[in-house]
Amino acid sequence: MSTFPIYRPRRLRANENLRRLVRETALSVNDLIYPMFVVHGRDTATEISAMPGCYQYSIDNLIKAAKELAALGIPGTILFGIPASKDPFGLEAYADDGIIQQAVHAIKDAVPDLLVMTDVCLCEYTDHGHCGVIEAGEVQNDPTLELLVKESLSHARAGADVIAPSDMMDGRVGAIRTALDENGYENIPIMAYAAKYASAFYGPFREAAESTPQFGDRRSYQMDPANAEEALREVSLDIEEGADVLMVKPALSYLDIIHRVKTEFQVPVAAYNVSGEYAMVKAAAQNGWIDEERVALELLTSIKRAGADMILTYFAKSVVEWL
Ligand code: PBG
Repeated sequence: MSTFPIYRPRRLRANENLRRLVRETALSVNDLIYPMFVVHGRDTATEISAMPGCYQYSIDNLIKAAKELAALGIPGTILFGIPASKDPFGLEAYADDGIIQQAVHAIKDAVPDLLVMTDVCLCEYTDHGHCGVIEAGEVQNDPTLELLVKESLSHARAGADVIAPSDMMDGRVGAIRTALDENGYENIPIMAYAAKYASAFYGPFREAAESTPQFGDRRSYQMDPANAEEALREVSLDIEEGADVLMVKPALSYLDIIHRVKTEFQVPVAAYNVSGEYAMVKAAAQNGWIDEERVALELLTSIKRAGADMILTYFAKSVVEWL
């Protein structure tokens, strides 16, 4: 490659039209998935304190929000449910009249074109707040798989378009894939939270989903933030087990992982721009310390540049306005 003064990189930065022509990454509405929280009751929209602009909606308001997403052209939502009551086994997670099952029915009725993805996990439904069955103070892997399978099937029966297991139990993608196939749901894709780290960035979400563990933490099932090769092993296992979309979560401290997953496996990659990442931007912007629009677009563009095909983000609606 020629060097200065023959090659002057600034030539192609001289004006916006030139910059548009050589721009390598474009964030678009096609990349976005908007997460929503649903509670029992009616006429409820409770703002989540550390996530300004995000609400726990009752189903009537959830439908209004879903219509807004469709009108904005956002391809899909991912739903999280807050049950009426919690117990050691997370019974409402796999009840056909559970909050998520009702919500999926309602959205698919009212807004059939919006993709409805469901987060499959037990932590919102268990009284101890862990993502599985507890015995002797430990989350038990294989007994948890049976419950995750029941949960996935009940989401499929309710009409879910995509099943997204986020529990990080070993073998859950294979168990869920097999059960879906055996029950006539062979065309429902699985978006696996494949490389999900034990992250402090989930703090605001746990307020939103009321899912804080009541003892200990999630480090015996979610990944150590220090590990990268292990993430590739997790992803390759989930691919072998039948996952269609591979997710890295969180996004911003893990751009290297997104990049490696995209370059080492030729698969669709999702990145979850999580609650704490959203909260930091919102808080700094509210203080007048940063420009929310520019910072959010820069961060989301970096997630795409790293290799993500789609981004789950609480900024989705704002992004459409900004673009
Ligand atoms: C459920 C789940 C969590 C998130 C998505 N699914 C929380 C957790 O694992 O503790 C976090 C999403 C966010 O922070 O925005 N297991």
